Amino acid sequence: MTQPIVAVENLRVLFPTRDRKETVKAVDGVSFAVQPGETFGIIGESGSGKSTLGRAVVCLLKPTEGRVLHNGGNPHDLSAAELRRARREYQIVFQDPNAALNPRMTILRSVREPLDIAGTVPSGDRDRVALEMLDRVGIAPEFSTRYPHELSGGQKQRVNIARVLTVRPKLIVCDEVVAALDVSIRAGILNLFADLQREFGLTYLFITHDLGVVSHVSSRIAVMYLGAFMELGAPEALVSRPYHPYTEALMSAEPVPLPSHMRTGQRIVLQGEIPSPTNPPSGCRFRTRCPIAKDLCASKTPDWREMEPGHFAACHFAEPRP
Ligand SMILES: Nc1ncnc2c1ncn2[C@@H]1O[C@H](COP(=O)(O)OP(=O)(O)O)[C@@H](O)[C@H]1O
Ligand code: SF4
Ligand SMILES: [Mg+2]
Repeated sequence: MTQPIVAVENLRVLFPTRDRKETVKAVDGVSFAVQPGETFGIIGESGSGKSTLGRAVVCLLKPTEGRVLHNGGNPHDLSAAELRRARREYQIVFQDPNAALNPRMTILRSVREPLDIAGTVPSGDRDRVALEMLDRVGIAPEFSTRYPHELSGGQKQRVNIARVLTVRPKLIVCDEVVAALDVSIRAGILNLFADLQREFGLTYLFITHDLGVVSHVSSRIAVMYLGAFMELGAPEALVSRPYHPYTEALMSAEPVPLPSHMRTGQRIVLQGEIPSPTNPPSGCRFRTRCPIAKDLCASKTPDWREMEPGHFAACHFAEPRP
């Protein structure tokens, strides 16, 4: 077994509510490991804790409990200077193409900035490296002197990718990277991610609420609900034979973007809203919306069980199939 590039162990990330009287359990006991070169997808509704998990993976947030290991080591055991250096290898691209771009900086300066901070490339070479990276992501040199507001969302997202690539990361957390973009340009950006993965040997943690996006690119997908994983498996297995009622509902709600062989027949419409993460339901946290919940579901938290090799689910009533 190779050393996972990221191992998340019983991670909990809790926030105080605004009035500080309660605790938001944004990530509430999550474990998984990502292998080098893999694209690990995380899917779930808004508010399920995906971004919090992604930020904890790149050390933008500290675990409240549990650990995030980078290549087997705990980055939070490092000194501040060592952590800054180590973090270069673990980058994140956000949904909002403007989030990481300073509106008063030219595109070239924005892409060069991480190199200036890292200091790993001689200063005389940094513009050249930045321009090469812009070229690689499909941004022509004439855009380098422009400002973010002069670019489209898709172009800005390409710039963001160039920006994180300059420091040669090993893993990139892609947090809803195409969600804010026009549908017509999403495929181009997803293809770029795939090309860059091959070229630079990247590992991705690919976060999305859109199964159509993640099923195309991922080797494995975790289904997240209210701070916890409900199911984990290969995309084809999740779609064609889900074990968890929540996965089944998500899959059936998926409209056209799924490849035809992955589409399911019937639609299961989830009732109600996702409950508040300050007070998740007892037992199985999905039980308030589960069409087959029974008494046991309120009193006992389902175990995380391997239903088939590499395919896990947390439901009392899931049965391994022959
Ligand atoms: N800094 C924060 N302070 C308080 N609550 C937060 C903070 N960040 C996220 N949350 C809450 O944690 C929960 C999970 O949020 P998030 O990780 O953004 O979910 P997702 O990315 O799946 O939409 C939400 O209820 C959100 O309001
Ligand atoms: S444990 Fe119970 S509530 Fe949870 S998914 Fe299974 S049947 Fe539904
Ligand atoms: Mg999010």
